Amino acid sequence: MKLFLDTAVYEEIKAGVDWGVIDGVTTNPTLIAKAGHDHEEQVKKICQIIGNVSAEVVSETKDDMIVEGKRLASWHPNVIVKVPMTPDGLAAGKALAASGIRINVTLCFSVNQALLAAAIGAYIVSPFAGRLDDINEDGMRVVADIVSAYRQQSIKTKVLAASIRTPMHVTQAALAGADISTLPFAVLKALFNHPLTEAGQKRFLEDYRKTQEPQKVKA
Ligand code: G3P
Repeated sequence: MKLFLDTAVYEEIKAGVDWGVIDGVTTNPTLIAKAGHDHEEQVKKICQIIGNVSAEVVSETKDDMIVEGKRLASWHPNVIVKVPMTPDGLAAGKALAASGIRINVTLCFSVNQALLAAAIGAYIVSPFAGRLDDINEDGMRVVADIVSAYRQQSIKTKVLAASIRTPMHVTQAALAGADISTLPFAVLKALFNHPLTEAGQKRFLEDYRKTQEPQKVKA
């Protein structure tokens, strides 16, 4: 399972790239607004350091989304155009996919919606696990069911577990067979943590330092 960062904050993406653990980035209008930057400028900057950068359309009709999607894709070859799981979003996604643009269908909450995303030739479908949990549904069950349906139907669309809130979600997404998980930066950092790693590393360094101390003179 590939790990993406779910952020538009350049410094966070740079850190993930420097650690060598991330393969892409997902943005959405909320994340771009939070980062407080111009959309085009920020997406282009992110594309300089990482591939697979999802950028979302904000138009509301099929024709406008097609125009906007083509503009987003023209910014950089690393851009994947995100369209919403709506009739207009899917119709626009189909036209954009037919012109060779990689499409990420976002705001997916069910197996049936994931089948629709596959039907238009989406490169990625993004089920939002955390938001399903928020309304007392089992988000990771939906992710697992989409993976299972896609495998049974030999569908090539990649399943990207989104709306990830905890390190446990990441483990569950991997066990469910998701192709990608997109994580907030805090969750990515938390993946490194284990008390035994911390204690073990501390001990190794202490033992090494002891070997560097001057030899005690034997009486
Ligand atoms: O990638 C989708 C993600 O941004 C949604 O996350 O936490 O707003 O539900 P959240």
